[in-house]
Amino acid sequence: MKRLRVSQVSKRFGGLFANEDVSFDVAPASIVGLIGPNGAGKTTLFNCVAGVLKPTSGSIWLGEQLISGLRPEQCARHGIARTFQVAKTFSSMSTLENVMVGALLHQRSMRTARDTARDALELVGLLPKAESAAGALTVSEQRRLALARALATGPQVVLMDEVMAGLTPTEVKQAVEVVLKIRARGIACLIVEHVLEGIMPIADHIVVLDNGRKIAEGPPALVSQDPAVVAAYLGA
Ligand SMILES: Nc1ncnc2c1ncn2[C@@H]1O[C@H](COP(=O)(O)OP(=O)(O)O)[C@@H](O)[C@H]1O
Ligand SMILES: [Mg+2]
Repeated sequence: MKRLRVSQVSKRFGGLFANEDVSFDVAPASIVGLIGPNGAGKTTLFNCVAGVLKPTSGSIWLGEQLISGLRPEQCARHGIARTFQVAKTFSSMSTLENVMVGALLHQRSMRTARDTARDALELVGLLPKAESAAGALTVSEQRRLALARALATGPQVVLMDEVMAGLTPTEVKQAVEVVLKIRARGIACLIVEHVLEGIMPIADHIVVLDNGRKIAEGPPALVSQDPAVVAAYLGA
């Protein structure tokens, strides 16, 4: 499996540095939480990793492959998969068909794509809803559908943007279980999350952004006691 390396990434919008000189690694089969107050630059960094945005400077590597500057579908082919902060589904298609769209990135055979899609739905606990119209799913189920679609592409790294936002405590627990299962498959998870109760207990490593800069990183227990982190959250 491949390591994701974010190296001195800056992204400027006009006069504003949404990311400034951000560096960190995501080890294979690890869970890295990317946290920080609103406007800290989390989504921007995500978009840089996913190929939606090109960093103004710096580089992003997946194993030996330089991926910064590649288009989203090229990043996907190299093994980056993502969910969106607002879940996007093809609502008139079935749950299974939605996930097959992800599987078809690497597969030509519909039968293989269907098997891959069923496997991904099983992983996220959505197999019983395989034949339901995606539009009929609850918000929590739609998040899991989006995750299954990302997993069906056979990624090295899955990027999750606030997959726990707006969920009930029970749903957060379920989401946590799913993330642990993904890691157990050897896939790295880079998770942007506001729901700290969801991410802190399961993350191997936490990266904290504030005003575009990395202000802390390390194991969750250390980071959550870091005075700069506490100040950033209280100030927000
Ligand atoms: N496309 C854009 N054009 C201009 N400014 C942007 C754009 N996207 C984000 N920003 C700004 O960059 C900063 C970081 O935003 P964002 O990455 O969305 O933060 P977060 O996800 O941590 O809330 C914010 O000040 C935001 O207004
Ligand atoms: Mg965001």
